Amino acid sequence: INNIAVLTSGGDAPGMNACIRAVVRTGIYNGANMFGVKQGYQGLIDDNIIPMDARSVSNIIHLGGTILKTARCKPFMTEEGMQTAYNHLKARNIDGLVVIGGDGTFTGAKIFSEKFGVKVMGVPGTIDNDLFGSDFTLGYDTAMNTVIEAIDKIRDTADAHDRLFFIEVMGRDSGCIALRSGVASGAEAVLLPEKQTSIDELVNQLEIGALTKKSSSIVIVAEGHKAGGAYDIAKKVKERFNHYDTKVTILGHLQRGGSPSSADRILGSRLGFAAVNELFKGTTAAMVGLRGNDVKVTSLEEALTKHSFKLEDDLLEMTKVLSI
Ligand code: F6P
Repeated sequence: INNIAVLTSGGDAPGMNACIRAVVRTGIYNGANMFGVKQGYQGLIDDNIIPMDARSVSNIIHLGGTILKTARCKPFMTEEGMQTAYNHLKARNIDGLVVIGGDGTFTGAKIFSEKFGVKVMGVPGTIDNDLFGSDFTLGYDTAMNTVIEAIDKIRDTADAHDRLFFIEVMGRDSGCIALRSGVASGAEAVLLPEKQTSIDELVNQLEIGALTKKSSSIVIVAEGHKAGGAYDIAKKVKERFNHYDTKVTILGHLQRGGSPSSADRILGSRLGFAAVNELFKGTTAAMVGLRGNDVKVTSLEEALTKHSFKLEDDLLEMTKVLSI
């Protein structure tokens, strides 16, 4: 491997810049020429590929977002799009590619490496923490801290006014952020995509809180919950439960921004370093992830087929017990 490109794709996640820095510098340290692809796979198609040196990644370790920018690129999933992307890599003799992103990114990477023989390594970068092969994905820790800070603030005002708040958090089909932020913020209830909680059950739980003189309540709703978003749930609950004034807050994209936590800076650096070292060893169509405190390699095939987050039942049970 002599020429390596790096890109970020899909939703941005704090820590991506730390990872880009590690990829570029690990490659240069080992004698490779390094390139950055702008806007994910779209930049491969548009030939938006720039050379990167050690200084091009100075002073970025602490920045949220991604200096390479990112995109969700449908054209890359077509035969023609992939061929164009490959031609642009070939023109620069780029033989290794590091992709930082989530399952959509890995799906593209897997097909690309199989069809065109480009050596590809993935780094799991998504706030959703929903990829098999890594206990934590890049950006999840920072997003969690942001969510907790927001919920704590909402709790202050909820308590001051004796209100019931429904707070919607991100995670697409995964309830990981919702469940764990519910535990960390002492929420009264958590609604997850993986577990159906009926409105009856939720109302019962809130009734008990009201009877036992709770002055306010926080319900976390995962955006992927099947019965609808926080507004829908709040409306349904309000029809049957009116002990408190009810409010809804959707945390939205603020969960994706901000300076990465120390954990995400270390994770991004570690996985970026490992991804390039794996390329030098000849590994391809795989991702690096953290399991326990070790960096492990998982094939993209396995990462994609087993991608769903396994709910920790004890946490869910605990939410009920600890919020009495
Ligand atoms: O995958 C990260 C994520 O933030 C999800 O939690 C969310 O469902 C989605 O991306 C939002 O995507 P977009 O930024 O394209 O609206």
